[in-house]
Amino acid sequence: MSPAGRRLLLAIESSCDETAAAVVDIDSGSVLSSVIHSQTQAHAPFGGVVPEIASREHLEKIDVVVGDALAGVGTVDVVAATYGPGLVGALLVGLGYAKGLAQGWGCPFVGVHHIEGHLMAAAADPASPPPPFIGLVVSGGHTALYRFDGVGCAKLLGQTRDDAAGEAFDKTAKLLGLGYPGGIVIDQLSQQGDCNAVAMPRSLRDRSNYDFSFSGLKTAVRVHVDAALKRGERLEGQRLADLCASVQEAIVDMLLHKALLACRRLQIHTLVLGGGVAANSRLRREAVRRGQELDVAVYLPPKALCTDNAVMIAMAARAWVQQGRSSSLSLMAAPDALVEASSTALVSLSG
Ligand code: KG4
Ligand code: ZN
Repeated sequence: MSPAGRRLLLAIESSCDETAAAVVDIDSGSVLSSVIHSQTQAHAPFGGVVPEIASREHLEKIDVVVGDALAGVGTVDVVAATYGPGLVGALLVGLGYAKGLAQGWGCPFVGVHHIEGHLMAAAADPASPPPPFIGLVVSGGHTALYRFDGVGCAKLLGQTRDDAAGEAFDKTAKLLGLGYPGGIVIDQLSQQGDCNAVAMPRSLRDRSNYDFSFSGLKTAVRVHVDAALKRGERLEGQRLADLCASVQEAIVDMLLHKALLACRRLQIHTLVLGGGVAANSRLRREAVRRGQELDVAVYLPPKALCTDNAVMIAMAARAWVQQGRSSSLSLMAAPDALVEASSTALVSLSG
């Protein structure tokens, strides 16, 4: 136990292109530190995450990131890390580091499913709604809808059949020569655009399931770009802003239509967003507006807790610790880990 009588938890996240560490107070849930090293610069020249580069960057940065998170916080009582899903080489760095610390310090280790982390990000705010809620996790790697009743009780309702929503933003940005990652650039350019200017497909929107499809958008953008080129038009200024706003609107509409459909059908009047795309300003505004119309309370974690971070991993680990659960040090990295199987990574703390 730390000198101040607090029980502290160190969490590490390294599943994709952020090396992150955070320390939280297990009893109060307060966040003592959160450090994130983003690898965006390293991957930008390649227009996407390069797995080998990601692993190497994690290896180079993890000592400094964890050291900074631990600075001045005293003794840690539990160590946690993401075990999956994600890039196997990237996961291995954070997981191995965390297990090594737990073994060296003789304290329990907790393996966290990355999606449960996103679903628990909201819990960093004591005023956030408790489960059950509908969780919409939208990032560069995932786009899925869950019924969430707490850690170990996430049920997948539907997911993308092709590209993730973040990928749709990133691929659109690439086609338009806007660099990587594209979501934030499109978000900014769209502010000046007319979201009804260009017709965009909304695949699967009106099917009565909870699945998504975004791959048609990049084809639509390519067709639009080619047609503009043929007419001798340059896609810049207002034309570019209109196209960005139209793509963004289609993504936002498809996401919220299905999320709110789930709320209505399952009679759960709380919707929580997570993942990097949940930082999108149009998605945030529309989620609240449409939620109000349908009597659904929408909770949006702060943007820094939407993109990958270790506070969300700490929040999920804290919930497991409160249930008296921890993981074996033999827990392996699981690049395709299913959220429904998250509890198989845990045993009883005394066991
Ligand atoms: O959750 P995240 O940091 O990493 C994973 O993919 O797991 O999400 C990154 C994704 C990228 O595709 C990025 O373009 C998108 O989130 N993103 C945004 C915004 N900020 C980040 N998409 C739309 N609008 C934004 N403001
Ligand atoms: Zn993520």
